[in-house]
Amino acid sequence: MSKKMVAPSILSADFANLENEIKAIAAAGADWVHVDVMDGRFVPNITIGIPVVKSLKKISPLPLDVHLMIEEPERYVEEFIKAGSDYLTIHVESTKDPAQVLKRIRTLGAKAGITLRPGTALEEILPLLPLCDLVLVMTVEPGFGGQSFMHDQVAKITRLRDEIARLRLSCLIEVDGGINADTAKICHQADVYVAGNYVFSQDYATAIQTLQATQPS
Ligand code: DX5
Ligand code: ZN
Repeated sequence: MSKKMVAPSILSADFANLENEIKAIAAAGADWVHVDVMDGRFVPNITIGIPVVKSLKKISPLPLDVHLMIEEPERYVEEFIKAGSDYLTIHVESTKDPAQVLKRIRTLGAKAGITLRPGTALEEILPLLPLCDLVLVMTVEPGFGGQSFMHDQVAKITRLRDEIARLRLSCLIEVDGGINADTAKICHQADVYVAGNYVFSQDYATAIQTLQATQPS
């Protein structure tokens, strides 16, 4: 079983100290930095935007994995890519034409990701897989860190793994929400773990290495 990748979500980091936090997770062996962008409309919470992504890019030794939880992402993808997003993930529910937005993300030079709310059927995104470099399975309702893992979403990961193999695609599967040492085992078919609370509430290196070494339960 190959080593998993870990993308700590800076939503759980010290926002007054983001440069040090990112350097610390990089030193602790993190693979990517997960950046949660919320607009107060698609989700009830408001977090960070384009200027912060631009500043993070200047100091981050790790790729920026930007998760857009915003309405009409087509209005902003160009700016998020110019700001330095390496992976840019949109919600299938947030736009009328997700295929067009994914194509645009790739044309603008970033890796394209699709994601879905827990209540959205996987069928909504299956036709989009050939346009994606990353598929993000949400295991909490998007909007806040520190929520409990939703076990009923795990079947989506298994199904995606089969579809990606069947279609001979190379997109990565990422899982986000309530990930810790135990829930990571349940999601062992994912390639990338996003973890906020689990990483930032303990020794970063221990948390990151534990997730990277995940084996099936
Ligand atoms: C939720 C965000 C997550 C969140 C994960 O809307 O997409 O990335 O920060 O936090 P934890 O790992 O604490 O559930
Ligand atoms: Zn996220």
